[in-house]
Amino acid sequence: MSPFTFKSLTLVLLVSLLIWSATFGTCNARRGKHWRQSRRFRTSMYKKKEKNHGSNHQHNHGSRSKPKISPPATPGPPKTGHNSAVIFDVLHFGAKGDGKTDDTKAFQAAWAAACKVEASTIIIPSKYEFLVGPISFSGPYCQHNIVFQLDGTILAPTNFKPFGSGLYQWLEFTKLVGITVQGKGFIDGRGAIWWQDYSSNDPLDGEVELIVPLNNSVAENLQTPVSSSLVGKMPNIKPTALRFYGSFNVTVTGITIRNSPQCHLKFDNCVGVSVYSMNVLSPADSPNTDGIHLQNSREVVIHNTNLACGDDCISIQTGCSNVYIHNVNCGPGHGISIGGLGKDNTKACVANITVRDVNMHNTMNGVRIKTWQGGSGSVQGVLFSNIQVSEVQVPIIIDQFYCDKSKCKNQTTAVALSGITYERIRGTYTVKPVHFACSDSLPCTEVTLNTIELKPLQERYHMYDPFCWRTFGELYSETVPPIDCLKNGKPLKNQIQTYHDVC
Ligand SMILES: *[C@@H]1O[C@H](CO)[C@@H](O)[C@H](O)[C@H]1NC(C)=O
Ligand SMILES: *[C@@H]1O[C@H](CO)[C@@H](O)[C@H](O)[C@H]1NC(C)=O
Ligand SMILES: *[C@@H]1O[C@H](CO)[C@@H](O)[C@H](O)[C@H]1NC(C)=O
Ligand SMILES: *[C@@H]1O[C@H](CO)[C@@H](O)[C@H](O)[C@H]1NC(C)=O
Repeated sequence: MSPFTFKSLTLVLLVSLLIWSATFGTCNARRGKHWRQSRRFRTSMYKKKEKNHGSNHQHNHGSRSKPKISPPATPGPPKTGHNSAVIFDVLHFGAKGDGKTDDTKAFQAAWAAACKVEASTIIIPSKYEFLVGPISFSGPYCQHNIVFQLDGTILAPTNFKPFGSGLYQWLEFTKLVGITVQGKGFIDGRGAIWWQDYSSNDPLDGEVELIVPLNNSVAENLQTPVSSSLVGKMPNIKPTALRFYGSFNVTVTGITIRNSPQCHLKFDNCVGVSVYSMNVLSPADSPNTDGIHLQNSREVVIHNTNLACGDDCISIQTGCSNVYIHNVNCGPGHGISIGGLGKDNTKACVANITVRDVNMHNTMNGVRIKTWQGGSGSVQGVLFSNIQVSEVQVPIIIDQFYCDKSKCKNQTTAVALSGITYERIRGTYTVKPVHFACSDSLPCTEVTLNTIELKPLQERYHMYDPFCWRTFGELYSETVPPIDCLKNGKPLKNQIQTYHDVC
């Protein structure tokens, strides 16, 4: 067969795999066990001395017989802690790295090869810029512990065409066991074209409404997104730059993700996530550009990371538990948020979230829990500790009336909040120090405050006192300013729901 035929065959296989995995992903979000049991391709490895190009791999991929692995043509593998020396450099799979040529196919080919070898390494070399369209590094049949060594730059397309009618992500890793993305490289979403066209359908961060003070001098600082005339061309969905889905033991370290069209780094249905020593970088006025977004993920650690973006630095959504965030810098951005939970009467469960040793500078919010009226479920066991804020509009927020439209109707059910601890929250604010707005039917319980010292940036910012509504708990120390709106003790029995009752 000619190489051309092999190429087409591989393409067909890849496309069907992609379609299959996309369908699987959206329809079976909760059937985590299936990919755990996924059959592995047993492959034997043959090393070849001469330089091997992508077409050979495609041949092997297509025939599924004894793949011949490209020998490392660049000096040894990075220190990954693995013994394996099997590396796959995208340049050997036809990638140009000139920032102009579409290198998507080369990345796909490199992945197809690496996928077959346990603990192999894909290399994206430094000093090159790779233009790569939407791509899924899909792994239900991949070997474990693959390393994606990113030292160069991956650039997103600057037009919407490759995203068709809309995709949830640009770069995706799915259904892998042990995947590490590391290096000193960049993932550049070149999101400016997506930001300028801010459609009115996009949700605005809802606290804008509740924090606008009577004195308009602060309101001028709030972001007002602009609409432009490009509306027709842009897909409705803006992609996340880098998304991990349905994977175990995921590590992201060293890299910088910048200027994403939307969220920068997302974990969905993952168990065992470690993010450290990396950066997210995009402007304060880039709409909906969360730094790190967690959903349905457990055993997550995020530390020593700098997050600067236009929305939440870290956003924790339903299904998350045992999340530990520490030594993070946040700003600009909207702070660290749990929620919005319970939208459209959904059930949300979040437990055991620790956020400590965090610096926030010039952010909209500090630490925030936001839920929609009408939801159900529970948030339990949250610790915010040693949070240093400076020039933060509202450092501490619980908002159970979250609403990103102008009006949401009052409803009686709510996501129950309990066991929320704030300790050593210090620094300066520009609008209001503390805002606790809990549900009428299900008040917040066990909200404790210890060593809170929040001062207006300047006296002229002292426009609001702390606010509490239906918030039960305890003060363990005097606070600055005095917070005397917290209700001592517990609400009526029928107004308490525990995590185990509802989740
Ligand atoms: C609003 O704030 C400005 C300072 O930013 C102050 O000069 C002005 O007097 C305030 N207006 C009112 C009505 O409090
Ligand atoms: C994830 O890593 C932990 C610790 O290294 C290990 O015990 C566990 O088996 C790994 N999980 C999977 C699914 O491989
Ligand atoms: C939260 O942590 C407690 C104590 O470590 C543990 O017993 C509980 O199972 C955890 N909850 C969840 C949902 O993981
Ligand atoms: C909804 O509830 C809030 C708080 O109890 C109240 O201030 C507001 O008037 C209510 N709105 C409607 C439309 O009933």
